[in-house]
Amino acid sequence: MNTQIISLMNLIRLFQFKRFFKQLDKNTDGFSHSKYLIEEDINRNFLERENKKLNFYLDKISFLESNNRWLQTNLNQFLNILEPLKNNKMNILELGSYQGVSAFFFLDYLENSKIKCVDCFDIHPNNLDIFKKNLNKYFNTERLEVYNESTLSFFSKGLKENSYDLIYVDAGHGYLDVITDLYYSYLQLKINGLMLLDDYLWYEGKVVDLNKGVRLAINDFLERANGTYKVIYFGYSVVIKKIKNFEATQFRNNFKE
Ligand SMILES: C[S@@+](CC[C@H](N)C(=O)[O-])C[C@H]1O[C@@H](n2cnc3c(N)ncnc32)[C@H](O)[C@@H]1O
Repeated sequence: MNTQIISLMNLIRLFQFKRFFKQLDKNTDGFSHSKYLIEEDINRNFLERENKKLNFYLDKISFLESNNRWLQTNLNQFLNILEPLKNNKMNILELGSYQGVSAFFFLDYLENSKIKCVDCFDIHPNNLDIFKKNLNKYFNTERLEVYNESTLSFFSKGLKENSYDLIYVDAGHGYLDVITDLYYSYLQLKINGLMLLDDYLWYEGKVVDLNKGVRLAINDFLERANGTYKVIYFGYSVVIKKIKNFEATQFRNNFKE
């Protein structure tokens, strides 16, 4: 074979390799799924069917002032999961509120419930103003309490068991932020309460980046709290229901092993 053909073939191979690695880079963040998320346990047909309120809420949140509407990714599942609880009086804790899109949704959809929103709003200029604007009608009502501080500072003021019926975890996205938020908030979740863990499949384009450890933190949490929850849903987000009290020592003991 002449040398020109051989170099042409090598060039083609090189392109194929590059394409393969690009593909790999897109499809994996280096972390696998938790073995505690079992497909057979999920009522996917039911939870992923199009909710009759989906377009209504997509429309509603499009009128809010915000440069991000992340909620859209989970909206349909959240509508389906929360539908049976719509009229309940629930205590909600939201960790990570940004400009108020998700808090607005919870307050509007769960109309008898109240929410505590925790965010260090000042990280992003104007966020608190935008949040206030979007939630204007709930300000100074007993349905909304706002904590402009880090989640750690919020938790450090005291933890109370059986406080919340619904907890939405969407604040810091580094491993330590997430594991701390999961641990401290789960301790305060009531039995039969739901916890919505956002961004399980979040991926910022790097193969392995421990700073972006949402999935790793959720996996570790699911392992350590195993036996105290039932998995309701997993996809882009993970939703669990607490079925048993979770002892503070459960974490410590597991770490010792
Ligand atoms: C993805 S955004 C929340 C989006 C919001 N839940 C929504 O759907 O509209 C994450 C938010 O978490 C906040 N945040 C990040 N780290 C935090 C921390 N350690 N404590 C409190 N808030 C934090 C950021 O300021 C940001 O507003």
